Amino acid sequence: MKEKTLHFIRKGLAIRLDDVPADAMLLPVIRHHLGACGTKEGCGEGDCGACTVVIAEPEGEAGVRFRAINSCIRPAHAINGLALFTVEDLETPDGTLHPVQQAMVDTHGAQCGFCTPGFIMSLFGMYQRHVALGKSIDRRTAEVELAGNLCRCTGYRPIVDAACRLSEYSPAWLDARALRARMDELATRIGPQTAPDEKYLLPTNLDQALAWRQAYPDAQVLAGATDVGIWINKLHQEPQRILDVSRVRELRQLEETPTSLLIGASVPLSDAFEALVTIAPSLADFLDRFAGLPIRESATLGGNIANGSPIGDSMPLLIALNAEIHLQGPDGARSSPIERFYRGYRKPDLRPGEIITGVLVPKPQPGALLKAYKVSKRFDDDISAVCLTVMLNISEGRVHAVRIGAGGVAPTPMRAHLTEAALTGQDWTAQAASRAARTLQTEFSPISDLRASEAYRRQVLDGLMQRLWLESQGVACTVGKPPKMRPS
Ligand code: FES
Ligand code: FES
Repeated sequence: MKEKTLHFIRKGLAIRLDDVPADAMLLPVIRHHLGACGTKEGCGEGDCGACTVVIAEPEGEAGVRFRAINSCIRPAHAINGLALFTVEDLETPDGTLHPVQQAMVDTHGAQCGFCTPGFIMSLFGMYQRHVALGKSIDRRTAEVELAGNLCRCTGYRPIVDAACRLSEYSPAWLDARALRARMDELATRIGPQTAPDEKYLLPTNLDQALAWRQAYPDAQVLAGATDVGIWINKLHQEPQRILDVSRVRELRQLEETPTSLLIGASVPLSDAFEALVTIAPSLADFLDRFAGLPIRESATLGGNIANGSPIGDSMPLLIALNAEIHLQGPDGARSSPIERFYRGYRKPDLRPGEIITGVLVPKPQPGALLKAYKVSKRFDDDISAVCLTVMLNISEGRVHAVRIGAGGVAPTPMRAHLTEAALTGQDWTAQAASRAARTLQTEFSPISDLRASEAYRRQVLDGLMQRLWLESQGVACTVGKPPKMRPS
């Protein structure tokens, strides 16, 4: 078993690095192998954005997709064959600043040396995804897409101003078509990985992934690595072999039918959420708060489900949407309703040799009331204390069907069966909502931990059900603050 050679493109050149350890993260490789020390380490766990870099990956026949990612928790080998941009790479040889740099100068957005490189790279990612495609950036987009970059000294206003001004500058120099040609050339040169005698396995099709999953049952499976990267950095785990399924083309599919959406397990959350919002627009604000954009550009729905954290936000949502997990293994394909997929704390029902291949999400019925709430200590870029998602089908004032998913209230993501039963067949009134709130408050046994106390979690469940009622009546509730008034 040997270390895999890493190939990627930087500044238009093909870079080859030998003997990069399988569990090396991209950040130390950038700083130590490339000597590019502009990229900083703040937290080492995907929270602060100081380490943000941009990767470019092939998209479609001839396109390129730019993604800002956290290099501290992304395995270096995950960028094999892709293009990498660090903060040193934006200035042109004649010294002309890139529009994102010039905008930061003009708005006085540059602050401390730890965070500013990360902000610059998030802005660069935004530039490529919006301005380079002829779209301007509004304030809300800027705030949402910069939410993964933290500053604790002065503030964000000048940086958001810089983002909103990007389209005022002369276009930047980057030739995306030429970059794609370089990536295709590199892919041809390095060829597919065929002999799995390396510690980092990067299959490109499902058969290969399944064969290697069976052959190496101890290999750490990952896709975006936003959890595994933390286990390696902070828990000092040392996986002997890694099976990275992020390039498996069957797992990168998004398929919409008249009744459902099938999301491949390795589709990055940002793409999965964009598709989800097309079938359920009311989820937009909730999905923007899932994590900062660099996490959403890396993490996957399959990874979130496989990790099975009781405070992961996608499971309550998928429970309310009545989603099905699709799996494939040595015994063939099978599926499981998401709410029956967990046998205990972080124990997904994954059989030996199995891989999650996708999630089938039925489209909500026309007129369904779908609401998702996240309550966390920090509004952006934080983990939920409580997450609640409710889908109500109401006809002629009566609740015909309801599905409720809850997170942060038990060792596993939960479906609120008792509360659903209390609502089903009832007229949708303030009294019914109050009764449901009381049931929901006592249906689970949340624990007290660093995110919230048991009592707080129960109170939040109550408050969120009250809020659902008020919002269903057209009352706009202040974002992040449950209503204080209980309807009589
Ligand atoms: Fe904080 Fe990477 S160092 S997100
Ligand atoms: Fe670093 Fe504000 S820019 S703390």
